[in-house]
Amino acid sequence: MAIFKKKKTEMAQLPPPKHIAIIMDGNGRWAKNRGLPRTAGHGAGAETFRRIANYCRTLGVEYLTVYAFSTENWKRSEDEIAGIMKLLRNYLLEALQDMEKNHVRFKFFGDLTRLSPDLQELCRKAEMTSSKYHEVQVNFCLNYGGRDEIIRAAQAFAAKVAAGECAPEELTEEQFGNLLYSAGIPDPELIIRPSGEMRTSNFLLWQSAYSEYVFMNVLWPDFKEDDLDAAIAEYHRRNRRFGGA
Ligand code: IPE
Ligand code: IPE
Ligand code: MG
Repeated sequence: MAIFKKKKTEMAQLPPPKHIAIIMDGNGRWAKNRGLPRTAGHGAGAETFRRIANYCRTLGVEYLTVYAFSTENWKRSEDEIAGIMKLLRNYLLEALQDMEKNHVRFKFFGDLTRLSPDLQELCRKAEMTSSKYHEVQVNFCLNYGGRDEIIRAAQAFAAKVAAGECAPEELTEEQFGNLLYSAGIPDPELIIRPSGEMRTSNFLLWQSAYSEYVFMNVLWPDFKEDDLDAAIAEYHRRNRRFGGA
């Protein structure tokens, strides 16, 4: 036990990754385990997000990308979707109010046009009014899909070619990256998926080429600051080779 504690302290002193991404999964199972409706799980998950985003800011993480609603999540019941959208609205209203205090810069990844006009407006406002802050940037993935993001970038590049602005063979990885929602943001070093599922579920397909994945058995509403510490410690134990020998 003493050895484990010493190790953990040593790990905690290592700098956190610049960019951490999280698939906030397990809200539904958390609610089911308690005999509650799924929306109660999403409410608890939203609380966890507030805590963990704040903790990331304290740790000095520069970018936190969170998967909040995927392009596939529209398959869920109208009730559940309405519940998630309501939580999102409340969170954004609160974030706009607390901006001066929290200094979080917001970005939204995903096709927001499918959201209600008032939510779209709140997202725009949050992005605009927070652009001056530099403590931590939260990239909120809403109606986000990695494949959808790549298709949109391909369409944008094809349009440039059609307009005679460039030739197909001129496209580089860097230029393609600049057509994605994450343009200008370094790839996440660490991607955490709680809830026990071990798949990407269409998250950051391009950006995760060399990310370290940490899958954890905890459900997102139960995820604590200690779990983030453990994931960061695990990240520091990995040997990242990027294809080298
Ligand atoms: C993640 O939790 C939240 C969203 C996908 C919106 P889930 O709702 O997927 O929870 P589980 O996986 O059913 O437990
Ligand atoms: C991924 O979780 C999406 C979010 C957490 C927002 P899902 O619960 O939708 O993924 P699957 O269905 O388990 O693959
Ligand atoms: Mg899930």
